[in-house]
Amino acid sequence: MKTKIILDTDPGIDDAMAILFAEANPNVDLVALTTVFGNADIETSTRNALYLKQRFGMNCDVAKGVSKPLLRDPVGASTAVHGENGFGDIALDAPTIAADPRPAHQYIIDTVKAAPKEITLVAVGPLTNLAMAITQAPEIGDLVKEVVIMGGAFGTHDHTGNVTPFAEANVHDDPHAADIVFTADWPVTVIGLDVTHETFFSTDYIDTLRDTCGEVGEFMWDISRFYLDFYKSRMDVDGCFVHDPSAIAYVIDPSLFTLRKGPIRVVCDGPAEGLTIQKHKPTKHKTDEWAEKRPQQVAIAVNDQAVLDVYLDSMTQYGNRES
Ligand code: BDR
Ligand code: CA
Repeated sequence: MKTKIILDTDPGIDDAMAILFAEANPNVDLVALTTVFGNADIETSTRNALYLKQRFGMNCDVAKGVSKPLLRDPVGASTAVHGENGFGDIALDAPTIAADPRPAHQYIIDTVKAAPKEITLVAVGPLTNLAMAITQAPEIGDLVKEVVIMGGAFGTHDHTGNVTPFAEANVHDDPHAADIVFTADWPVTVIGLDVTHETFFSTDYIDTLRDTCGEVGEFMWDISRFYLDFYKSRMDVDGCFVHDPSAIAYVIDPSLFTLRKGPIRVVCDGPAEGLTIQKHKPTKHKTDEWAEKRPQQVAIAVNDQAVLDVYLDSMTQYGNRES
């Protein structure tokens, strides 16, 4: 049976790779893209979601979300990583289709209520829309199937942060929202840097996508030029880590990941702002800000080759389908 997902996203180059993966894989039913600020401002990320929907003939809804974090001052768009237009500054035609009239958090609430236990929320941007949805309608906690988050870093394999030494970008963009989402009474699985920095799209792999996956492969190759230049200049690597597509890989096949259970909190200010901490030991403490919180799942290992294989298979079949 297909897993129905709402994908909350800030497209973004690796977001586009994740969106197209969800659209391509036959075991995923992409119900909607809900947009959020992050890699780009909200107008740009929504335009990019609509662009993908129109260009690739996707059936999903698009709903526009929030433009800024709940409480902290905005960090600003990640233009150094994703370009001014979020898609590596390639030329883009303006989409001629419109978004759903509802704000993203309302779309999420309505859709989860209309299909109890059927919808998996997958978030690959700052968690502001999800925090607003669960705060305004706590009853959806019992009605979602699962909440899958690309975000955070828990120190496995020494992966502790990408935008600060101890924070991952999506959580750092809105730490208060992340703390709400991780501590809410719903089932969360976190796909953080612990595993996304263990899976790598080499330049050769992306060349293969271009050569074997038709128009969709060429598009991913085009938008990733800017992204790969960033990785080369910042980290001296030939390729990029696999962030947002890893969350979709988990939805497709959870057995590719090793999970650890325990409540999660987020540091919301100070020099470690955005640090994510899971208490996975049963030790009792007199003072414990984790103790009463719901245990959630954090991915700590991944079968990286299997993720690469399922991604390439999905995109090859999709790129060569008969239309
Ligand atoms: C996350 O931050 C964004 O730049 C990427 O799209 C991804 O969601 C990685 O830390
Ligand atoms: Ca993202």
